[in-house]
Order: sequence, then structure tokens, then C-alpha cells
Amino acid sequence: MKTVAIYPGSFDPITLGHLSVLKRAVGIFGEIAVVVVHNPNKSPLFSSKERVEMISQTLVEAKIDGVRVLELESGLLVDFARDLNAKVILKGFRSESDIEYELPMAQVNRDLTSIETVFLPSEPEYGYVSSSLVKEVAKLGGDVSQYLTKSIEKALVERLQK
Ligand code: PNS
Repeated sequence: MKTVAIYPGSFDPITLGHLSVLKRAVGIFGEIAVVVVHNPNKSPLFSSKERVEMISQTLVEAKIDGVRVLELESGLLVDFARDLNAKVILKGFRSESDIEYELPMAQVNRDLTSIETVFLPSEPEYGYVSSSLVKEVAKLGGDVSQYLTKSIEKALVERLQK
């Protein structure tokens, strides 16, 4: 039986670091669903629907097959996972501070439904790349092409010009 994994996050916007985790995870899990989660603690630059569309486009651009892109507007991630019959929550981590942030969520999620979280270490070249830093650099007019696919860079630059 194939193991379904969900890869949740804000993805505002998706970076090459996220794509690197996804690409490697495709070889490990039978099926992956990227889940764009509305995080009430953040004010995203792109709506959830826009992010779903952008991720779908970037997966084609990056030639990553076999990944679905879904949206969670409200409710618990574990309930969403259960409805999808997902057995694993996939997360990437870059540093100790990511683990500090992620570990309690992984533990609470397991308390709630026994679902396991699997962490994939980031590739060193993306170990410092985050959506928020990329947005800050782009806002200040810096070149972010090395962190994003072409379509995401274009969408980001256009959004910041509005
Ligand atoms: O990319 P982010 O914003 O750091 O991702 C955090 C996210 C969206 C994965 C987390 O906030 C989440 O799972 N939210 C869904 C609501 C939920 O289940 N909360 C309890 C987490 S233990």
C-alpha cells in the first residue's frame, strides 16, 4: 500500500528550498499533497488560491510529477490528513531553530491522531532560504532569482509593484 504524505506550509511564496524537499520526497513516498495552509498568525502577500495556482505552475516548471496541491482554509491539519488518508506529515528543516518551532507541532499532531511527522534536512545551498527573507529582499529591490523559479519570481515582483 502506498504511503500518502502531506507537505503543509504557508508557501508565501514557494522557494527552491521547498521544491528541493519535495523533489527528494517524491522518491520516498507513494503520493504527496502540498497543502497551502491559511495561517492566522501571518499576513500573506498572496491569497491561498493564488498560492495553490503558483505552486501548481512551478511544479510543472520544475518538472516535478505526482504531486497534488490543495488548500486548507481552516481546521486542524491532522483532520485534513485523516480525510486524505495521509499517514505522514512531511516537513523540511534548515536549522536548530526550525526544529524548535517544528518539534512541538509534530508532537501535538501525533497526540491528536498518531500521525507521524517526517523531517527532511534542507540541502546546504538552501539552508538559509526562507519565504520571508526572499520577500524582504525583493521588497527592497534586490535580485531574488537564485531562490525562486521564474514564474514565482515574476509573480512576486509584479505583486510588489502594485
Ligand atoms: O509555513 P508555516 O506557516 O510555518 O506552516 C505552519 C503550519 C501551517 C504547517 C501550521 O501552522 C499548521 O499546521 N496549521 C494548521 C492548523 C493546525 O493544525 N494547527 C495545530 C498545529 S500543531
